Amino acid sequence: MKKLATLLLVLTAIAVGFSVKITMTSGGVGKELEVLREQLKMFKQLYPDIEVEVIPMPDSATERHDLYVTYFAAGEKDPDVLMLDVIWSAEFAPFLEDLTDDYDYFELKEFLPGTIMSVTVNGRIVAIPWFTDAGLLYYRKDLLEKYGYKNPPRTWDELVEMAKKISQAEGIIGFVWQGARYEGLVCNFLEYLWSFGGEVIDEKGKVVIDSSQAVQALQFMVDLIYKHRITPEGVVTYMEEDARRVFQKGEAVFMRNWPYAWALLNSDDSPVKGKVGVAPLPLGPGGRRAATLGGWNLGINKFSSKEEKEAAKKLIKFLTSYEQQLYKAIHSGQNPTRKAAYDDPKLKEAAPFMVELLSVFVNALPRPRTANYSELSDVIQKYVHAALTRQMTAEQAIKNIARELNFLLK
Ligand code: GLC
Repeated sequence: MKKLATLLLVLTAIAVGFSVKITMTSGGVGKELEVLREQLKMFKQLYPDIEVEVIPMPDSATERHDLYVTYFAAGEKDPDVLMLDVIWSAEFAPFLEDLTDDYDYFELKEFLPGTIMSVTVNGRIVAIPWFTDAGLLYYRKDLLEKYGYKNPPRTWDELVEMAKKISQAEGIIGFVWQGARYEGLVCNFLEYLWSFGGEVIDEKGKVVIDSSQAVQALQFMVDLIYKHRITPEGVVTYMEEDARRVFQKGEAVFMRNWPYAWALLNSDDSPVKGKVGVAPLPLGPGGRRAATLGGWNLGINKFSSKEEKEAAKKLIKFLTSYEQQLYKAIHSGQNPTRKAAYDDPKLKEAAPFMVELLSVFVNALPRPRTANYSELSDVIQKYVHAALTRQMTAEQAIKNIARELNFLLK
């Protein structure tokens, strides 16, 4: 008996000796954090010697970015595992562990090509795609039906017409989206810009935003608020969760948001459960539609120790495995980055739109790819927001964006 106790003690000491603690950042939008904690419990069963501490991040992607800049500038050894927006790969690549040789370990050939592009910088893999995002149109199926509309709007003009009619009759809001001054505003703006036939930078890297299409697109956003009055003036402070809460309470007919909203809108305590449809965003005047490509990847801090990096790889492999991606998609409504998951009947049952609108996810358009993307985004945020708050006209805003981007990208 005594021998057994000694043996146990020795074994525990060895286990403790070998155990490693790593830290990981995570967003907490919707059910994200809750679901991650469940996944970490499963991970703990597989790897009892790895302890993972979660560092929650603010909701705003822009604030998250600024936090990372502080970590990296100080050469911090924590966090070990970093949840990274698809737009940051080039900027943060110098601070991330190169995972190119782990291509097979992470089974990257199984992933959607667009997601792999988002983690590739100069031919090197700097992170592993965790979930993918695209802008979507959520609508109240029950209300559209009540007012005789069989289908969701095909064009932006149809959306305005339906939103006006239904919102006035029902005494609710027509259309909510993300208009605060942060990254989400850029995602929203680009969807109008692209669907109106405009572009920020062409293939040769030339700034081409100074166009009538860009002015019309921004004017359209302004008109949603002040002319058509289907979007409340308060939208200029809305991020994803603000729009989602209004829509979920049953106070809006349409909402632009990412896939994560689905699971929440259909949760048991949601007033709009079962009443919501999801469609691609409408066509612009030129007959084009566009969704901004979003999503988050998991990278490893280059300054972490060898043991922490090894543990981090195991954690990332686990979280991006087929089963865990499916678990995440079903419970927090975040789209898998593995192709095969879209053929899984369990996904179709939990989030039919993910399967039905696969082409929207595959064809979503990336934001401009440059190492100084954050500065470019900041310029767009500043002037688009200034137009939405009527500090300048749409035309002035676009001219200012063009001038500053020309300076920035020179
Ligand atoms: C979502 C997207 C991300 C984007 C952010 C903007 O989290 O996945 O790519 O930058 O929204 O708010």
